[in-house]
Amino acid sequence: MSTPQFQVITGDCIEIMRGLPAGSVDCCITSPLYPEIKRSYGTMTEAEWLPFMGEVMAQLRRVVKPSGSYWINIGPNSMPCTSRRSWPWRFVLNSMDSGHNLVRDCYWVKKDPAVTNGAGDKGLLRDAVEWLLWFADPECYRHQRAILLDYSESALQKIENRQRFSSVEEVRPSGLRARVDRWAQDNGGATPFNYIVSATAQNPDAEHPATFPEALPEWCIRYTCPPGGTVLDPFTGSGTTGLVAMREGRNFVGVELNGDYANMARRRIAGWRHKPIRQRGQDAPEGQETLFAEDVPA
Ligand SMILES: C[S@@+](CC[C@H](N)C(=O)[O-])C[C@H]1O[C@@H](n2cnc3c(N)ncnc32)[C@H](O)[C@@H]1O
Repeated sequence: MSTPQFQVITGDCIEIMRGLPAGSVDCCITSPLYPEIKRSYGTMTEAEWLPFMGEVMAQLRRVVKPSGSYWINIGPNSMPCTSRRSWPWRFVLNSMDSGHNLVRDCYWVKKDPAVTNGAGDKGLLRDAVEWLLWFADPECYRHQRAILLDYSESALQKIENRQRFSSVEEVRPSGLRARVDRWAQDNGGATPFNYIVSATAQNPDAEHPATFPEALPEWCIRYTCPPGGTVLDPFTGSGTTGLVAMREGRNFVGVELNGDYANMARRRIAGWRHKPIRQRGQDAPEGQETLFAEDVPA
């Protein structure tokens, strides 16, 4: 297999994507700036953000192949901290109204307990779940085997005793009837959930205020980008998506508005060989717990 290639372009993602050929990437994984949050990379009001993201989505649909997927990571926020802002729901509904097919709403569950300002002080609940919205054609490319989960004890027992259940119908707690022999078939792993569990990002080599953990792009890439394909991140930040794409044997195109962050991304992605791929059963670094890949090219 040839060495994957990467490119990080400094500029506005809408402008840059307009210049990319239609159907030129297999998969997009990105975390855009959120509205109403002051960051070093700027602030947008909700009223500005929704049409801006509408155009980002239109460009993504154009540059991603018809068989491809585009994943958007956003997290609901509040103001004041007892009142949710409505923009994430509006974004989802606007996107669906514009013809983007939402295959699944997936979730990133953060597992590191912490005292948080605001919510903690007011006796509230910590926001520990972010959305990972999977948009694609219903017939999109997907490689479920790459992200199968380990079986539970009870599932393993059913599989071991499968012969006993041959053709037996079981009424599930839901009231639905299921053929147990089919249900207890060994498929090499359990059907993946629509959530992944990972601590908040711990990327010590990234001086950036809003990175996501490698586990997010790793899961999406293994699942929905064919080996050797090309991954796009229009909001590249410190380059986490690009780093993982290279490690997973995929090419990468990134766009980043801030020149310093773009340089950081180039530096991090170029060092991808120092971050070895993880296989099933290997311990992940603290904070980067993840799934496994058996079919990922070496
Ligand atoms: C939430 S961060 C992405 C972090 C990234 N996932 C990582 O792990 O490092 C969003 C990034 O989008 C960049 N950005 C904001 N507006 C942009 C635009 N119009 N075009 C391209 N990049 C933009 C910001 O500078 C910021 O680095």
